[in-house]
Amino acid sequence: MQTLTILGATGSIGRSTLHVVARHPDRYRVFALCAQRRAAELYEQCLRFAPRYAALVDPRAARELADRIAAAGLDTEVLAGPLALAELSAHEEVDTVMAAIVGGAGLAPTIAAARAGKRILLANKESLVMAGEVFLRACREGGATVLPIDSEHNAVFQCLPSDGGARRCPEGVRRIVLTASGGPFRRAPLAQMRDVTPEQACAHPNWSMGRKISVDSATMMNKGLELIEAFHLFGVPAARLDVLVHPQSIVHSLVEYDDGSVLAQMGNPDMRTPIAQALAHPQRIDSGVAPLDLVAIARLEFEAPDAHRFPCLQLAREALAAGGAAPCVLNAANEIAVAAFLGRAIRFTDIAAVTEGVLQAVGSRAAGSGIEEIFAIDEEARALARAHLARCTA
Ligand SMILES: NC(=O)c1ccc[n+]([C@@H]2O[C@H](COP(=O)([O-])OP(=O)(O)OC[C@H]3O[C@@H](n4cnc5c(N)ncnc54)[C@H](OP(=O)(O)O)[C@@H]3O)[C@@H](O)[C@H]2O)c1
Repeated sequence: MQTLTILGATGSIGRSTLHVVARHPDRYRVFALCAQRRAAELYEQCLRFAPRYAALVDPRAARELADRIAAAGLDTEVLAGPLALAELSAHEEVDTVMAAIVGGAGLAPTIAAARAGKRILLANKESLVMAGEVFLRACREGGATVLPIDSEHNAVFQCLPSDGGARRCPEGVRRIVLTASGGPFRRAPLAQMRDVTPEQACAHPNWSMGRKISVDSATMMNKGLELIEAFHLFGVPAARLDVLVHPQSIVHSLVEYDDGSVLAQMGNPDMRTPIAQALAHPQRIDSGVAPLDLVAIARLEFEAPDAHRFPCLQLAREALAAGGAAPCVLNAANEIAVAAFLGRAIRFTDIAAVTEGVLQAVGSRAAGSGIEEIFAIDEEARALARAHLARCTA
């Protein structure tokens, strides 16, 4: 029986995790459910899964949740504030932490899980983008294992040879190729891109996801963040990481070997597959996902990404090449810009402009060597991004 803390329980990945967990009550016990402020959703999950703890960052929402839980006579104890999330990630009774908070807010509780030696199912790619070296060092020192949840990294993990848990890029791997759907604007006229609305940007053709990652997919910043994530997770040089647009999202990524073999992992575009793979690894369990019907799909298409259409992908590549603090700055600026776009304060095309402006303003800077330094760089980049927003016209 694995005991689980789920960070970001009310989100898209959190809910998909609970779908898989519900199919296997004999294998998984929910110890803690954590989110930011959606008390009603978390309450419903508490009724269904009866966790020992539930935590919300927002204290008012936590009070509302506590009142509901008391009225229902549940045993779940409610905690409030960001430190509660770190506590529940590191709790001695927890084996596995699903890290599925969106954005930089996921870093602190995920690092806490790393230091406490947990099995970390990592959906929160921003943790690795912001703090790659520091995060991996915390995992090594704490004895934590990381299993990737991003479908692309989960696919690569499955296509690399096993070396007893961790999968690092071995000799003989020529390239790792991350696939990308190309999002909703792969074919949209370029002149229309600046008038894209949040609703259009969030209407992903294949995946049902939270709003921030949906916008990142539409700009292809998501693929850029994933390149940085792959660089850290698999220890592969940036020059051997590639992106391939594959509109059907059936092939989730590929590993090319020196002998010409290319191993790919396929499946329907449903996050319950990588979640089930990581939860059960090295065993396999039913995820509830329908079998892949290749006859019905009939054709798989591939094309090179269009650098002109997706400047965010290039910005991420440059940040990865620059190293140091650049990936952390990229992530922070992008988060502020995406939130402003979702709030209709800037245009879709301003997301790349703001991010580029902040990267240039910060310039070359060493990466933070500890978590406090990383948070300081992150905060500085966010402040610069807010200043850049004022120069955009919505
Ligand atoms: N969705 C996917 O298919 C997918 C695929 C691959 C990777 N990922 C990655 O998985 C992560 C989650 O994505 P998602 O699509 O599930 O996002 P989402 O649907 O927007 O859910 C985000 C979750 O994070 C919580 N949260 C937001 N801000 C927080 C904060 N400041 N402190 C604590 N919790 C906070 C939310 O709580 P409230 O509901 O209370 O606000 C919610 O539970 C992201 O890093 C994303 O890149 C997602």
